[in-house]
Amino acid sequence: MKAAVRYHSRGGNTKKLALAIAEAVGVEALGMDKPLTEDVDILFIGSAVYAHGVDEAVKTFIRGIDVKVGKAVNFSTAAIVKSTYKQVGKLLSEKGIPQAAEEFYCRGSFGMMHKGRPNEADLKAAAEFAKKIVG
Ligand SMILES: Cc1cc2nc3c(=O)[nH]c(=O)nc-3n(C[C@H](O)[C@H](O)[C@H](O)COP(=O)(O)O)c2cc1C
Repeated sequence: MKAAVRYHSRGGNTKKLALAIAEAVGVEALGMDKPLTEDVDILFIGSAVYAHGVDEAVKTFIRGIDVKVGKAVNFSTAAIVKSTYKQVGKLLSEKGIPQAAEEFYCRGSFGMMHKGRPNEADLKAAAEFAKKIVG
């Protein structure tokens, strides 16, 4: 079973989740400027919400995938909305990449909102989620 982790994080919140997930499954967390170079069974894909949308980097990364991805597992942070699952799912479906039903989401700090999130408990939960996914 081959897994990979890619994330985009402007402020570092989603990066924290990426690092916890990558450590849990024993791979490196890389930014979306690093295209996938080989087929993977599971792609953990991390993003955040900015003005209701995901960053262009997420769109560019997904549109540029030219290897086989068994399934993509979404993880995300946001301050108000609940996850980037739908937006990322739409981009994935345009590429014919299956999106797992399971996702990991937690609040991400934004100004005075949700200070300290993701926190230790969030990171622990993210790691446990990832371990469950890879079995
Ligand atoms: C410019 C900007 C716009 C944002 N817009 C939204 C938004 O529309 N809805 C939302 O739920 N969160 C919004 N947020 C909050 C971010 O989704 C949240 O802080 C997230 O954890 C940022 O992740 P990052 O640190 O990995 O970049 C916004 C944050 C920034 C910086």
